[in-house]
Amino acid sequence: MKTRIIGTGSCLPQKIVTNTYLETIMDTSDEWIRSRTGIGERRVAVEETTTTMAVEASRLALKNADILPEEIDLIIVATVSADMLIQSTACQVQCEIGAVNATAFDINAACSGFVFALNTANLYIQSGIYQTALIVGVETLSKLSDWNDRSTCVLFGDGGAATVVRKDEVGILQCVQGSEGAKGEVLTCKSRPVENLFLKSSEKIDYIKMDGQEVFKFAVKKVPQIILEVLEKEGLRVEDIDWFVLHQANIRIIQSIMKRLNIPEEKIPVNVDRCGNTSAASIPIVLDEMNQKGMLKPGQKIVMAGFGAGLTWGATLLEW
Ligand code: ACO
Repeated sequence: MKTRIIGTGSCLPQKIVTNTYLETIMDTSDEWIRSRTGIGERRVAVEETTTTMAVEASRLALKNADILPEEIDLIIVATVSADMLIQSTACQVQCEIGAVNATAFDINAACSGFVFALNTANLYIQSGIYQTALIVGVETLSKLSDWNDRSTCVLFGDGGAATVVRKDEVGILQCVQGSEGAKGEVLTCKSRPVENLFLKSSEKIDYIKMDGQEVFKFAVKKVPQIILEVLEKEGLRVEDIDWFVLHQANIRIIQSIMKRLNIPEEKIPVNVDRCGNTSAASIPIVLDEMNQKGMLKPGQKIVMAGFGAGLTWGATLLEW
């Protein structure tokens, strides 16, 4: 028995922020951003929140899967930018969509979050504990970005996407994932400072800090490795795969992976030009765009691969 994706949905904020607009508020240029990252514009939440985007994407995914909320018995939300520390985003989604029979929790694996959540749901379904799960990747990184730091704020975008997965004859074939906490300092954002009865803090609110070149080196080395690893476990080669749905951090990272593995450009869908880096949401947003366009056909083989803060990485091989 396998775990199959039976529905997808996504939600992007209305507000589009172009590079040209950023040129008017900081010392940057469309040429700098495009040539180094491939990003032309990103969405920024104004009316939307992490929770509202997760809920809207989930409703659309349920509709696309043609199932009722009561049929969901597991909800996992991958996010590093929840609206609330308590309760989890997953519990808020459960309440809003009426998934009264679900167990719900969040996970934090940054840009690998969606793959980690999908792999976790797969194992629950394989073990027979649950039958039908809702997996959400959602972020509002605009609130964790320092809008005075041009080297990071231009990279990120807000958005959310969901998939419904269910026990079936076809679906997830293999998964790999890993973490290296010792290298975590290359991409960080502190939570609230400890302040209690005995300790007063002078710390200011912290924002995302990144050593861009270290993240770049890590990604271009690790992602090809995990793609080959997940294929090898199933005895498949790169040319057997129809689609590579990769975390959308930077077009140069995607192009480097493409060259290293000799993947034709048309097998790697890209939305980083329109959405920026939406962290845990990037892979499911791309997947939903492909699904809505009718690009995904039964029997096709797909590899999803993500990498991110932690450091973390993960890949999933599945048959659509
Ligand atoms: N506009 C104009 N100039 C800028 C900007 C900007 N937005 N940001 C930085 N610069 C300047 C710097 O100040 C520096 O100037 P200096 O030479 O006078 O000091 C110059 O551009 C070069 O800066 P670098 O940081 O060396 O630029 P680099 O070529 O490494 O590109 C980038 C930076 C795009 C972040 C690159 O390192 C990268 O792609 N890293 C990958 C990291 C990534 O994609 N992270 C996404 C989040 S992580 C994740 O999703 C897992």
